[in-house]
Amino acid sequence: MKTYLVTGGAGFIGSNYIQYMFGKYKESIRIINVDCLTYAGNLENLVSVENRENYIFIKEDICSKEAIHNIFKQYDIDRVVHFAAESHVDRSIRNPQIFVNTNVMGTLNLLDAAKCAWETKGGYKEDKKYLQVSTDEVYGSLEEETGYFYETTSIDPHSPYSASKASADMLVKAYIDTFHFPANITRCSNNYGPYQFPEKLIPLMINNALLGKKLPVYGDGKNVRDWLYVRDHAKAIDMVMEQGRLGQIYNVGGHNEKQNLEIVNLIIETLAELLPAKDPRKEHLNRDLIRYVEDRKGHDKRYAIAPEKIKAETGWEPETMFAEGIRLTIEWYLNNQKWMSHVTSGDYQKYYLEMYR
Ligand code: NAD
Ligand code: DAU
Repeated sequence: MKTYLVTGGAGFIGSNYIQYMFGKYKESIRIINVDCLTYAGNLENLVSVENRENYIFIKEDICSKEAIHNIFKQYDIDRVVHFAAESHVDRSIRNPQIFVNTNVMGTLNLLDAAKCAWETKGGYKEDKKYLQVSTDEVYGSLEEETGYFYETTSIDPHSPYSASKASADMLVKAYIDTFHFPANITRCSNNYGPYQFPEKLIPLMINNALLGKKLPVYGDGKNVRDWLYVRDHAKAIDMVMEQGRLGQIYNVGGHNEKQNLEIVNLIIETLAELLPAKDPRKEHLNRDLIRYVEDRKGHDKRYAIAPEKIKAETGWEPETMFAEGIRLTIEWYLNNQKWMSHVTSGDYQKYYLEMYR
């Protein structure tokens, strides 16, 4: 049985990944989820797995040297999947420091602990691997309407968030190059799907539209993001972990570029279609809700991932096309209004105390 150390498993992508992995591997893996439960960490995302015997939750900060080294001493970890991060660009513009602490120093701490635990005289214990979950934002911005980010594209981050993620990638690369550390880096485009914190574009717009609140579109709404359904990202991470060549970087994306305004309009239309005829929330669901607001500082124009390498080397392909994925996502938020109200009221933070008292 392989033991996975998953960091940040209570967040959006981490919790989807854990559910995906248990769905696929059932009892044949063990997952240890290490998460310090920042505002973005929500154990309610993991209700479906919390009673499994092969799941362990540890509330810890990845920056704590002693705690992380102890976890590696206590458990024979085979796989590390490192999601834990401060992930929101707007927050990084207001408070960069915490992004460097968590995303850079936290990653270094984790690399160091894994290296210490896995090192042997001649190299590393057999079949151990570390995967750094990175982002397309490290490549910066495509200012033209054409062109893609390749694994060979130079790193050129603009926001404090992307600079901290790029720094973390460079540390992983340094461990690979200097210590032959067994690792991969994946760089994925924008994810969407269930359990995303409503500070990010899609859940924020869904929630505001349902409440009849204004929909704040930054700038002219023409910035482009390349959207991937979160389960497809989870699958890509698993495939790179098992089939990726050591030391390699893999881009992850599904060739699905959309302007922000397109997404917002689609959310309004889909909600109007899905709500029952007499639902009073239908009344205000139209484009009048849109408000163009001040642009994000340093707002990257366009992201577009070239995913050919992961396809060629592992056979990974996205399974959920955008038309289906966005509908599934909107339906999920409609069916999980309690989750949304816990998140927006802050009640979800009481769950840890109640559950793990
Ligand atoms: P998220 O903000 O939803 O979740 C982050 C999780 O990390 C939370 O559970 C939080 O409690 C935990 N965490 C934060 N600081 C911690 C610390 N010091 N110690 C332990 N746990 C800590 O983020 P997400 O959107 O799920 O992103 C996960 C990873 O994927 C990040 O590394 C992010 O850079 C990367 N990524 C995200 C996207 C996207 O579209 N969301 C795309 C590509 C890559
Ligand atoms: O590309 C991958 C990245 O995608 C990840 O590394 C990040 O962790 C993740 O947060 C995401 O970053 P973005 O900045 O692209 O996502 P966000 O949802 O914040 O914004 C998406 C686009 O929508 C962006 O162009 C800004 C715009 N936007 C966002 C918000 C929150 C608005 O117009 N209005 C808003 O209220």
